[in-house]
Amino acid sequence: MKIHVEQGSIQASSADTIIVNLFSDVTTPGGATGTIDQALGGAISDLIAGGDLKGKVGEVAVLYPQGAIDARRVLVVGLGERDGFDLEGVRLAASAAIKRARALNASYVATIVHGAGIGGLDVQSAAQATAEGSLLSLYRYDAQKHNDDEQQEIETITIVEYDQSKIADIEQGIGTAEAVHAGVTLARNLVNMPPNVATPSRMAAEAKAFAKQLDLDVTIGGRNWARRRKMGAFLAVAKGAGEKPKFIVLEHNRDQEELDTIVLVGKGITFDTGGISIKPSANMGLMKSDMGGAAAVLGTMKAIAMLDLPLHVVGITPCTENMPDAFAYRPADVITASNGKTIEIISTDAEGRMILADALVYARRFEPAAVIDLATLTGACVVAMGAGMAAGLFSNDDRLRDQLFAAGKATRERIWPLPLWDDYRKAIDSDVADMKNSGGRMGGVATSAIFLKEFTDYNWAHLDIAGMAFSDKEKNYLPRGATGFGVRLLVEFLRRW
Ligand code: BES
Ligand code: MN
Ligand code: ZN
Repeated sequence: MKIHVEQGSIQASSADTIIVNLFSDVTTPGGATGTIDQALGGAISDLIAGGDLKGKVGEVAVLYPQGAIDARRVLVVGLGERDGFDLEGVRLAASAAIKRARALNASYVATIVHGAGIGGLDVQSAAQATAEGSLLSLYRYDAQKHNDDEQQEIETITIVEYDQSKIADIEQGIGTAEAVHAGVTLARNLVNMPPNVATPSRMAAEAKAFAKQLDLDVTIGGRNWARRRKMGAFLAVAKGAGEKPKFIVLEHNRDQEELDTIVLVGKGITFDTGGISIKPSANMGLMKSDMGGAAAVLGTMKAIAMLDLPLHVVGITPCTENMPDAFAYRPADVITASNGKTIEIISTDAEGRMILADALVYARRFEPAAVIDLATLTGACVVAMGAGMAAGLFSNDDRLRDQLFAAGKATRERIWPLPLWDDYRKAIDSDVADMKNSGGRMGGVATSAIFLKEFTDYNWAHLDIAGMAFSDKEKNYLPRGATGFGVRLLVEFLRRW
């Protein structure tokens, strides 16, 4: 799939499918939609007048020019109400239109930038959103399933713009969207892969591959590497694992001392059985998505390397399975993490915070301006927020929290602040160690965050993305299965830093 910009009038395009748009209050279309309307002898105005086309969000009307212009078909996509129209509206329109185009077996599509004309949005952002909404919607996981009826894919998308002065901005927006798309696609693929394929070794191999391509520094730590660094918490979870654990560290702009350092940490449990505190078998397969945090961090590292952001960014993803085994760690074990703190194991199913503990301690060495971790950490977060609604956001720094919140608002990857009150600390007091690894059912999302806080001494934010990484329903530009949640949010946050 290629996407690029071209200067010209859209009715002259040689694409087989043309996409224009319509706000719900328009009776006589103007701009590019008006030009097409005129070329088709008022066919679009006719649909509007007859009530066949209302311009509602996601609505798509298909017209057949039959030689009036070169294109075989014209899609008019609704933008909804002009009032409150934003970049999410652009992404939704692009998504609805491109999905219809693909269903109609289009191969060469021309579209205008949604929202940059009468929508009044900034051209570069609108172009980025148009490209992102399109590209993210066309994702298909290349599953290991034999398919007889080969589905056709769109080959080229051309964004057509008449005004020469906007071309450079559109090009910029497309470039950003392509990097974001590459990152989100990597994250989605890793999460969609079955757990016997997306092993810690495979995650390391994928990280190495794009690190080489994009000139990132990479360190892959195995069991012995982690032992030398006294990562008892990470190793405790890995003890029962048949697959070799991998502690992955990626660095962008490592040698640029003058740049601010941001560290991203992602939970990489490639399969969470619960360990000895084993989970019920129903839906256990969903726990292949328990490396969604790591996948988001790897995807973000790929995207920001492609964009060559002027920041020193470190991505840390501790990866291991959580399995029951004769060697597995057990409830009542006491484990020492790499900062010397001791942890009484209450549940081996509270494994995410264990591997994050050592990763957060490791983050310290980079003298970070901020550390952000992403983890499919608690079922309690999903109970609180609802599946697919929002990630929980915890931070010890108000400014960092606000910056992340704003990035989430802009990308529509919703995150919502939850409290990190010291009062929660009591819940993880232990008789035999510095803390317990579970504070029980009540306030389970907050007590997991207060546990992580024990391993931080810098500006830090924690995103609980359980319920966001994987979805059983397709929703606009988010496919069924892995969503790639977090990549767009983090890229936006880092671009704004
Ligand atoms: N990976 C799970 C959390 C999870 C649940 C993610 C549902 C996505 C969807 C995590 O490791 C876990 O098992 N958490 C326990 C913690 C408890 C033992 C303190 C939970 O949420 O029940
Ligand atoms: Mn678990
Ligand atoms: Zn887990």
